[in-house]
Amino acid sequence: MEVVIVPDATAGGELIAEAIATLVRRKPDALLGVATGSTPLPIYQALAAKVRAGEVDASRTRICQLDEYVGLPAGHPESYRSVVLREVVEPLGLDEGAFMGPDGTAEDVQAACDAYDRALGEAGGVDLQLLGIGTDGHIGFNEPCSSLASRTRIKTLTRQTREDNARFFDSLDEVPHHVITQGIGTILEARHLVLLATGEGKADAVAHAVEGPVAALVPASALQLHPHATVVVDEAAAGKL
Ligand code: GLP
Repeated sequence: MEVVIVPDATAGGELIAEAIATLVRRKPDALLGVATGSTPLPIYQALAAKVRAGEVDASRTRICQLDEYVGLPAGHPESYRSVVLREVVEPLGLDEGAFMGPDGTAEDVQAACDAYDRALGEAGGVDLQLLGIGTDGHIGFNEPCSSLASRTRIKTLTRQTREDNARFFDSLDEVPHHVITQGIGTILEARHLVLLATGEGKADAVAHAVEGPVAALVPASALQLHPHATVVVDEAAAGKL
């Protein structure tokens, strides 16, 4: 695992956007796995700026989703499908055909999970998967104690994660309890994992993930098992390393 410490979130976003641009120049139809939350926004802004400036042609890039709330209508502004379309797909000038994600509205949720897990493989696998980290060490929505071999499946959110994500909703009550997430085993199949963490609120989770033992209690520690994992942290998030 490579750990890169950058001065701030903007620098982290720029560094990772350049890594994505380098991938896309080499492989124009790369499958880019994206994460939601506040942390990756500087990456998407920096990447969109490179596309607008003509530094990279991302017109054939494909985008796939890491996780999704269960039960929010697809058009809900906080469904991750809506978030990814708004924050990644549209700013890159792509259309919805370039995007794939799990169906959080399916009647048979586990069948939707299995279908998405298969679809990722059929699409050739994820070339670069972006990840954030939850304050409890989760990646995607793999909460602590998720199996390190898990596949895409339905999970129940912890109270802490629901509270962390309540800022995107009008109240805590509106945050769904259930989600679909790529499993840790699924995530580990991506060719390159890039985790960005910024702010001192992530310092404990980063220290456990990077320097602690590989343990289901800290899902992000699974990155230690991956042959090509990069963890980019700002100085605040690196504070406990
Ligand atoms: C959610 C997402 C994760 C993300 C995490 C942290 O739980 N499912 O993919 O990493 O939030 O979000 P933030 O970057 O806003 O702290």
